[in-house]
Amino acid sequence: MFKVNENYLKLPGSYLFSNIGKKVAAYKEANPDKSIISLGIGDVTQPLAPEIIKSLHSAVDEMGKAETFRGYAPDLGYEFLRNAIVDGDYKSRGCDISADEIFVSDGAKCDSGNIQEIFSVDNKIAVCDPVYPVYVDTNVMAGRTGTYNPTTETWSDVIYMPCTAENDFVPDFPKEEPDIIYLCFPNNPTGTTITKAQLQEWVDYANKIGAVIIYDAAYEAYISEDDVAHSIYECEGARTCAIELRSFSKNAGFTGTRLGFTVVPKDLKAGDVALHSLWARRHGTKYNGAPYIIQRAGEACYSEAGKAQLKEQVAFYMNNAKIIKEGLKDAGYTVFGGVNAPYIWLQTPDKMPSWDFFDFLLNKANVVGTPGSGFGPSGEGYFRLTAFGSYENTLEAIERIKAL
Ligand SMILES: Cc1ncc(COP(=O)(O)O)c(C=O)c1O
Repeated sequence: MFKVNENYLKLPGSYLFSNIGKKVAAYKEANPDKSIISLGIGDVTQPLAPEIIKSLHSAVDEMGKAETFRGYAPDLGYEFLRNAIVDGDYKSRGCDISADEIFVSDGAKCDSGNIQEIFSVDNKIAVCDPVYPVYVDTNVMAGRTGTYNPTTETWSDVIYMPCTAENDFVPDFPKEEPDIIYLCFPNNPTGTTITKAQLQEWVDYANKIGAVIIYDAAYEAYISEDDVAHSIYECEGARTCAIELRSFSKNAGFTGTRLGFTVVPKDLKAGDVALHSLWARRHGTKYNGAPYIIQRAGEACYSEAGKAQLKEQVAFYMNNAKIIKEGLKDAGYTVFGGVNAPYIWLQTPDKMPSWDFFDFLLNKANVVGTPGSGFGPSGEGYFRLTAFGSYENTLEAIERIKAL
């Protein structure tokens, strides 16, 4: 008789977005005349930029001719894209990263889930709380997290680093020493970030204790402040302690198109073993590459015209973020984020539980957001709104909230 991976059975149901969906559906059924605005999900809404579409069309045409047809992509991704990434994301920021340290993939979600495979099961992980749930759940699947306590909603073998208004959403070094540290800045869900100097402290700490940082920079394009690092490799010493995850989803609208990459510097070693060789082995064995057409679309993001168009798109979302942030402030809310990220993290009024606030907003304003507790226990008392909606819906949603 076959046996299942019992670690999967330990996973508490992912109730967050299904619960939200169910509640919204029930409300719609009971109130068919109401128009509901969703500022809940972190998915983009603007179409792909013209330069990307142009590149997609021309790559499709290439695939239709024998002379230019492409089959399996090279293991690490096409050189044209990896070179564009190195020039556009790293050299331009003074980071010492080479094209053969870039692994092109179909997105940061898969990479952030898969990367834990190259580490021993007895590594101790540390995560920020609240957190993008993929980091924890994939470690649960691997059997690295111990037992779940439904009361505290925490795992016995995970180190949680609370990020709340009390510490300005900057995690403190944990009391217990971690082996693997997940950091995501600018942050989902809080929309806040840390300065380059603070990130440097994390790099120094990781190098000192021999830990690895898995740095998720999916929201790097939204950084507007000068003292915030776009890449962890802007910090000295990061080549010996950090893996960086990047995505084309939020800067270029590839949530449905799918493209991302992971950087594993060759200097990052456990004893004599380079993590680069392990990830290369995994990539070569289990992954057959992002489609040629999509990699060409990714390349277009780095052309002068592409960069200008994407900058406009980010500015569009960040204008929504400003509308939400200012509007909520005017309405008397305490709000965070929204300056270097497309998320606004608000404190619920009078410490209202975040699911109660969800119901309140849905019923009274017909606006959908995401309860903070869905991202971890320290998210209780907070609520996330996203700037990824249309301008008109964003304005309308905030007017409704102000009118409550
Ligand atoms: C922090 C973070 N990392 C990664 C992702 C997923 O990126 P991708 O679409 O490239 O898989 C998301 C998506 O919401 C995210 O919030």
